[in-house]
Amino acid sequence: MSQQILDKSRAEIEKNANRFARKLFKDDPDSVSSLVAEALSRTTYSINLEAAIASADLIIEAIVENIEIKKEFFKRIDEIAPMHAIFVSNTSSLSIAEMSAVTKREDRFAGFHFFNPVPLMKLIELIRTEKTSDDTYTTLLAFGRALGKTCISCKDRPGFIVNRLLFTLTSEALQMLERGDATARDIDTATKLGLGHPMGPFELMDMVGLDVTLNILQERQKRFPNDPNVITSPTLEKMVSANKLGVKSGEGFYSYK
Ligand code: 3HC
Repeated sequence: MSQQILDKSRAEIEKNANRFARKLFKDDPDSVSSLVAEALSRTTYSINLEAAIASADLIIEAIVENIEIKKEFFKRIDEIAPMHAIFVSNTSSLSIAEMSAVTKREDRFAGFHFFNPVPLMKLIELIRTEKTSDDTYTTLLAFGRALGKTCISCKDRPGFIVNRLLFTLTSEALQMLERGDATARDIDTATKLGLGHPMGPFELMDMVGLDVTLNILQERQKRFPNDPNVITSPTLEKMVSANKLGVKSGEGFYSYK
């Protein structure tokens, strides 16, 4: 969307490439630099959509969690991407079938959901619709494996597997906080020491982004107003309006300044 965001992403990718190369070749700085240089030489960056996808085999969409904007995006790239290209969405909750229906390649369309922080988290949820072809499915499985991830198969249901579980916990945690049952820090400590999770729900929301969390809740609530695990949270709404978005804005449930 902007050169500034692209520059930030590029810096982050370069940092991660160096971090992983250093882990692989601890005492061998030459191997670190040649691996990083080789990997980065195969990476290109562009804010020109047409140029970026002109010769793509696989396009992974990771834009804002809004079904109408995603549909508009897929409709647009369907006209310009190579015919053979597979489209996947990294959505966490939205309907893959609804997105794929705006394209002329429903057989080459699936969900491919990564987790934060992507370089460390080993899981990919692979979501196939009734129209996703076996070829597309097996290609994506192989691609996921080549990235060193474990793919699990999910049906095209809101929240798939992980976010269905996560948002049950998150919604309960927000309600406990809003009722004054416990502080965010104590709920996080309870989740870590009582359940053995690596992070508590508030730390996790800060990492994922409070705006992203609110978007997921609102989109699911619009579609499934009777789902008891999808709540409205005045706390979350107030924080997002005040630009308290978590780690990325310097403040969320905790301060990162
Ligand atoms: N990117 C790359 N590397 C990172 C990183 C990041 N963002 N954060 C930490 N690291 C590296 C560190 O540099 C460190 O490397 P080193 O071993 O070379 O020093 C290594 O990872 C371990 O770091 P830490 O000791 O600081 O961190 P932990 O061991 O506590 O692990 C964690 C960090 C993997 C984030 C762990 O806390 C965790 O698993 N948290 C839960 C994450 C989770 O639940 N994610 C899912 C979110 S839901 C989602 O994404 C769905 C969406 O749709 C909402």
